[in-house]
Amino acid sequence: MIDIIRIMLKVKIYDVCFDVKEGMSMNLVGSNKLQKMTTSIFQEVADRKQDAIKKGKDVIDLSVGSPDFPPPPYVIDALVEYTKDPSKYGYTLKGISEFNDAVSYFYKHRYSVELEPANEVLQLMGSQDGLAHLATAIINPGDYVLVPDPGYPIYEASVNIAGGIIYPMPLVAKNKFLPKLADIPEEILPRTKMMIISYPGNPVTALADKGFFEEVIAFAKQHNILVVHDFAYSELIFDGNPPVSFMSVSGAKEIGIEFNSLSKTFNMAGCRIGYVVGNKQAIQILASFKSNIDYGIFYPIQMAAVKALTSEFSYLRSQVKAYELRRDALISGLEKSGWQIAKSPATMFVWAKIPAGWSSREFAFELIEQAGVAVIPGDAFGELGEGYVRIALVQPPERLCQAAERIHEFLMEYSSR
Ligand SMILES: Cc1ncc(COP(=O)(O)O)c(C=O)c1O
Repeated sequence: MIDIIRIMLKVKIYDVCFDVKEGMSMNLVGSNKLQKMTTSIFQEVADRKQDAIKKGKDVIDLSVGSPDFPPPPYVIDALVEYTKDPSKYGYTLKGISEFNDAVSYFYKHRYSVELEPANEVLQLMGSQDGLAHLATAIINPGDYVLVPDPGYPIYEASVNIAGGIIYPMPLVAKNKFLPKLADIPEEILPRTKMMIISYPGNPVTALADKGFFEEVIAFAKQHNILVVHDFAYSELIFDGNPPVSFMSVSGAKEIGIEFNSLSKTFNMAGCRIGYVVGNKQAIQILASFKSNIDYGIFYPIQMAAVKALTSEFSYLRSQVKAYELRRDALISGLEKSGWQIAKSPATMFVWAKIPAGWSSREFAFELIEQAGVAVIPGDAFGELGEGYVRIALVQPPERLCQAAERIHEFLMEYSSR
């Protein structure tokens, strides 16, 4: 009898807990913070590309900046070797010390920067991991963050997640795509906690010199602002110019950090490994935040990264040459059609001012549909990206020449209408 009562009670409780009628979906909406994030234009371009393919069109995809080159063979070998070791499958938490040592070695040999491996280097699951979480670890609601416009989308999204206030720093051609620090309103500076810059950046491919970095350091010291330099394209710099790390400029470590990555330099984007270097306090704060949310990167990936960072650098030179060839193929091809585009001094992108009479989106969407070439509309990167498209150099030179020819025909047809 007692058992029957128990069973009846269980049934009752079960009914109460799971009183969801079959086929009925939850009424669930994303958080207010999520609402503030822009919907992904990257997804829209991908969907439009798929639609065009379904209609039988051959699409040359120059939209996403995922490298099509392989990692160096010795990096793949290291990954394979360590993956076979069954003892390397545990959590790695903050990462192995060999990785921090390798980053210090790389920074010393490539950028003449000395780093303390234990305190001035932090491993990240791609630099995106650090860029996405830093603001939450540093910014309180109501703090201002200076963000470039146009800029890489996570800068703005991360500040929104943290409840910070964005002050956009315009990057325009007439100022060589450098922000004018004197134009930032005095009254917001006491409430400004962080400034994000990226040279060379994405989508704006401009370079900064030491003089600009010195100006930024003086400004940041005066106003007690943390400078965040995103250096993800540190090894894709063209025309014989050397990379300039923000950390190589005197005083940088006192007020700044620099994000870097193995994604573009060593074509390890899918491995999700990057790092941040510089100011100990900022690194400690981010490390403490991360210790709550992740448990480290797969050991073999870290050892493959160690191999990449400490092997000879001739590989880097040949990669730069390969991207330079692609840039030149595309830009000279487009020049023939009368579309003059400034040559990118760096990165795997071309930031192209579009012909008059188009919005960025109209131009990009028509280009997919009519010409079979996928690019990203510039407004995806901020208000001042309107009037531009970003073209990724992720196809061989022959395919880029073909893209230029298709764009030429597209422009001819539209200008004759
Ligand atoms: C400017 C910039 N910063 C950071 C990243 C993030 O790279 P990852 O997380 O692969 O290191 C990217 C990726 O495209 C980028 O373009």
